[in-house]
Amino acid sequence: MAIKISGTGSALPKQSITNDDMARLVETSDEWIRQRTGIAQRRISAGETVAALAAKACGMALENAGVSAQEVDLILVATCSPELLLPCCACQVQGLLGAKRAVAFDLNAACSGFLFALNTAYAYIETGMYRNALIVGSEVLSKLVDWSDRSTCVLFGDGAGAAFVEKTNDNEVCSNGRHVGIESMVQGSDGTKGMVLSCKERTVSNPFAVSVPEEDEDISSYIKMDGQEVYKFATRQVPSCIQAALDQAGLCVEEIDLFVLHQANVRIIESVAKRLKADISKFPMNLERVGNMSSATIPVLLDELNRSGRLHRGDRIVLSGFGAGLTYGASVLVWG
Ligand code: UT7
Repeated sequence: MAIKISGTGSALPKQSITNDDMARLVETSDEWIRQRTGIAQRRISAGETVAALAAKACGMALENAGVSAQEVDLILVATCSPELLLPCCACQVQGLLGAKRAVAFDLNAACSGFLFALNTAYAYIETGMYRNALIVGSEVLSKLVDWSDRSTCVLFGDGAGAAFVEKTNDNEVCSNGRHVGIESMVQGSDGTKGMVLSCKERTVSNPFAVSVPEEDEDISSYIKMDGQEVYKFATRQVPSCIQAALDQAGLCVEEIDLFVLHQANVRIIESVAKRLKADISKFPMNLERVGNMSSATIPVLLDELNRSGRLHRGDRIVLSGFGAGLTYGASVLVWG
């Protein structure tokens, strides 16, 4: 049995915000943002919601896979910016799609969310509990961004990307001899470093509380980040977890056709390529146009590659990312 991605979709807000637009808000410049991050513009919600973007991306992934909403067994929404705590976004998406049979729930692993959802779907399908899953990373981070903090507000964008994942009983062998499907997965978390990228929810406050936690000035209800610490974590952890995923599959870097990485910073991606001694032309990027959309970056890029004909049957692809938590993950798969 193999488990493969058989459809992708994505949805972005219509409104594009350029670096010059950002420079009218905070003390920054197009030159600084491009040089330090590689970002030129990002899509920012003018009212589009996490649930609506997710449902649109999911609808496209189903259409791409040639599957109806009624056939979906499981819906996983990876998000750290839902509109509602209750009900979960996945239940909203299930309702919007009319996916009556599907079990639906959210998970939050920040920017690694899509990879964690893929891993979770894999585990459910592998055990035989479900035959398929619709997984989506969807974010409207513009709600959580402090628009007066130039060190974070220039980085993020809004959007959603989805994939339909299913069991294939056929032993699908491609013309290059590779077997279609997911070959390995690695994921990890380091909670001791979590506060380098944080955003606060409500604190304990009820009529029976004996002590109210002291306000920690380092935690805000907007995204707060120690950019350099996150940068160091990413440039160390991403290459090592990609290497671990390759080792698990018994592969070497040269056998990979494309590295679809979390789109946070072009310098991080270049550093990962260098550490792996991999050709940078194998690392497609779209962050120049859409910025960092957290859990949505990997599936949006995957969908763009899929729809532009850059993914071929038999291509071996690495998906890898990192994010708040801190979390990280990598997966190797053969496209089919
Ligand atoms: O999905 C995970 C999310 N997070 C990340 O991936 C973030 C990883 N980190 C990074 O990408 C980089 O650390 C940043 C892009 C966030 C920052 O780049 P950096 O090269 O690490 O810059 P820095 O924080 O060392 O700041 C350098 C200077 C500082 O000024 P001084 O102290 O040298 O005078 C900052 O105040 O740049 C200043 N600065 C800015 N200047 C113009 C910070 N943000 C801006 C800005 N425009 N937007």
